[in-house]
Amino acid sequence: MNKQDVLEILKKINYPGFSRDIVSFGMVQNVVMEGDSVSVILKITTQKDEKKQKVMDEVKNVLSSAGKFKNINVETTEQVQSPQVQQAPAGPTPLAGIKHIIAVASGKGGVGKSTVAANLALALTQKGHKVGLLDLDIYGPSLPIILGINENPKLTQDKKLVPLDRFGMKVMSFGFISGNQTPTIWRGPLVSRMTEQFFQDVIWGKLDYLILDLPPGTGDVQLTLTQKLRLSGVVIVTTPQDIALSDVRKGADMFRKVQTPVLGVVENMSGLVIEGHIQGAGGDVKIDIAGEQSVRVDEAGHFQFQLDIFKKGGGVIESDRLGVPLLGEIPISKELMAATDSGEPIVHKTPDAPISATFMTIADRIITTVQS
Ligand SMILES: Nc1ncnc2c1ncn2[C@@H]1O[C@H](COP(=O)(O)OP(=O)(O)OP(=O)(O)O)[C@@H](O)[C@H]1O
Ligand SMILES: [Mg+2]
Repeated sequence: MNKQDVLEILKKINYPGFSRDIVSFGMVQNVVMEGDSVSVILKITTQKDEKKQKVMDEVKNVLSSAGKFKNINVETTEQVQSPQVQQAPAGPTPLAGIKHIIAVASGKGGVGKSTVAANLALALTQKGHKVGLLDLDIYGPSLPIILGINENPKLTQDKKLVPLDRFGMKVMSFGFISGNQTPTIWRGPLVSRMTEQFFQDVIWGKLDYLILDLPPGTGDVQLTLTQKLRLSGVVIVTTPQDIALSDVRKGADMFRKVQTPVLGVVENMSGLVIEGHIQGAGGDVKIDIAGEQSVRVDEAGHFQFQLDIFKKGGGVIESDRLGVPLLGEIPISKELMAATDSGEPIVHKTPDAPISATFMTIADRIITTVQS
């Protein structure tokens, strides 16, 4: 019996809840054989210990029924024990009726956090999930603008807030209640209390996903949040320049310290999409950009390409080094910005745009991670 034979046997094991086997999922990291001993090393990134155990037991079972090995050893990689995938502590509680709370965070401001949060929420909505979107950025709430909302949420008789309906999802923002006139200096001390109260006082109903748009950095809101609530995970938004700096690492470290899984990184403003038309240029025209990129112009004179302003591939390397998956790369795009600033995010406004497809893929990756 060789390694390939062992892998064939392991292919009989489906990952719990899936019709796909653990080998094709890439969960079998290594198989080591020596005489009549076999060691199988598994890499299972699930938060659920019982699932991990079930797979390990099944591996033992199928290998012992093969009748070729005296000693069967099944282990999981260190990565499995990293804080990233550990169970949240008993302290924070889940919110009743909400299956998954996912925070969108960034080390610094202006990297596109709110844009990503809104489009991600809309992508999940389009996939048929019940979604809520909560803007916790008390210093600069932007969801009312991004989603083109200018009405206020209603209060019930017992002073609970009813979220607004927008593009098929439920939306609530600090901006709705704090107003933009409230001086920032007054808001600071209120932040923790308001954050906490917000969660108790908003009637979300049943939700599959609640997406939180956090303020930048690692301040009061983030702390209160992770102490009070059980998050399914956090998505970190960064730009190509910052990903190589300590930015992502700082964010990832903070969330790991409080036992919140880091689901991955979204690299925003990665490259620049340029689209245009050259009049009278039908057919096979080629133009060179800065001697580096060549661009094809089609029959009708139309062209589109991505100019990689920053070093390409930094996101992949860096996220790999941090052990945090790269969920997707969003280029700088006029279309994306125009949609955002017009109050209708691109995933809703132009669902068939390539950037919308990228957001759908990011949503898929998140769904797979939190549900496994
Ligand atoms: N990929 C992109 N291409 C072009 N413009 C973008 C892109 N991503 C975001 N923007 C624009 O950049 C500005 C800042 O984005 P956004 O408000 O989402 O950032 P943020 O990280 O939430 O900022 P803040 O820290 O202030 O909350 C917005 O005007 C938005 O439309
Ligand atoms: Mg924002």
